[in-house]
Amino acid sequence: MVDADRLWRRLGELAEIGRVEGGGVTRLSFTDEERVARDLVASYMQEAGLEVREDAAGNVIGRLEGRDPDAPVVLAGSHVDSVRSGGDFDGPLGVLAAVEAAQTTREEGVETGRPVEVVAFTDEEGARFGLGMIGSRALAGLLTPDDLSREDENGVTVAEAMREAGLDPERVGEAARGPDSVHAYVELHIEQGRVLEQRDLPVGVVTGIAGPVWLRFVLRGEAGHAGATPMGPLRRDALAAAAAVVGAVEREAERSGTSVGTVGRMEVEPGGVNVIPGRATFTVDLRDIDGDVRDRLEARIADEAARVCEQRGVRLETETLQRLPPAPCFGAARDAIEAACEGLGFQPFGLPSGAGHDGMQLSGLCPIGMIFVRSRDGVSHNPAEWSSKEDCAAGAEILYHTLLRLAG
Ligand code: GLV
Ligand code: MN
Ligand code: MN
Repeated sequence: MVDADRLWRRLGELAEIGRVEGGGVTRLSFTDEERVARDLVASYMQEAGLEVREDAAGNVIGRLEGRDPDAPVVLAGSHVDSVRSGGDFDGPLGVLAAVEAAQTTREEGVETGRPVEVVAFTDEEGARFGLGMIGSRALAGLLTPDDLSREDENGVTVAEAMREAGLDPERVGEAARGPDSVHAYVELHIEQGRVLEQRDLPVGVVTGIAGPVWLRFVLRGEAGHAGATPMGPLRRDALAAAAAVVGAVEREAERSGTSVGTVGRMEVEPGGVNVIPGRATFTVDLRDIDGDVRDRLEARIADEAARVCEQRGVRLETETLQRLPPAPCFGAARDAIEAACEGLGFQPFGLPSGAGHDGMQLSGLCPIGMIFVRSRDGVSHNPAEWSSKEDCAAGAEILYHTLLRLAG
């Protein structure tokens, strides 16, 4: 049985890294905070008796050898980076539960056929470069030179940030795993929604992960004097146009019934109380479990944005930051999770994930599966994010039994 106290204590320790005033954590990729968090995870892996290494993308990996060292590995983990002012559970719970499961395997003297590897992926959230899943992309062999040239808000590229963190971007290809080298990937994660809470269930089994598309809109109007420019066609207010587009994002997403649409970041220039905004730059995040529905939503928003900008004499540019297809969870990984739930007396209740996860990148490499743990009030990407110790332990126990089934 997993050690609930140990798991909970480690979660608390990890949550102290990158603590921000007023609660929550900020651990952006390739920063000191992420480094310290990864070092702490590495020390837990060592305590667990795993052989620890870091791959060329900075993923921290702890390996529990199997009877057949050449067999495809069973991979389990998550990430330790966070969004700005994020919560304590998104990512760390999955990494620490996987460490706990591997440690329990050793402590109970169980020898598995296949090796088990626990992974803490680099930059899942995309908070720094607007990309995300960098470590899992690299592991799946999907990280491109274009990805490495992505810039953060200070113009630092992924490649430069890697170098600053002591990694060599030229060698990132070495992190890629070959076909048939990974038997399955399993991730434990908080639900980040309200479904399990409403059904009074501690855990759930993910059926598929919604596909996100991230866009950047740049609207260029004309800066001008707020007092001296009359209302009407003489104004080409970029922010007023942006506001109409933001309204369209919300309206159209709502209209679709299943999709979600969010504008999470906006910069306005030049930025003055008495200056008409000349430029507005903002991000759009659109998701649906059905890729076609999402793409149709995107097309409707693009049409509406073009109409608004044309009418207001504002120039519109759009850039795609990332576009991922939805990732269904099926096959060996999900089957093993469901069997583990049943074996432990938990209902294997199926639900989709609205949030993105590293498994999306791995779905071309191996079967992927996810265990969800109930979130309090469905709150996430927020310092108030919370799951109970009992629910976290239940999820970790299911993960442990899932890994035993998959590793044989
Ligand atoms: C990560 O949490 C994402 O879904 O964007
Ligand atoms: Mn996450
Ligand atoms: Mn997240």
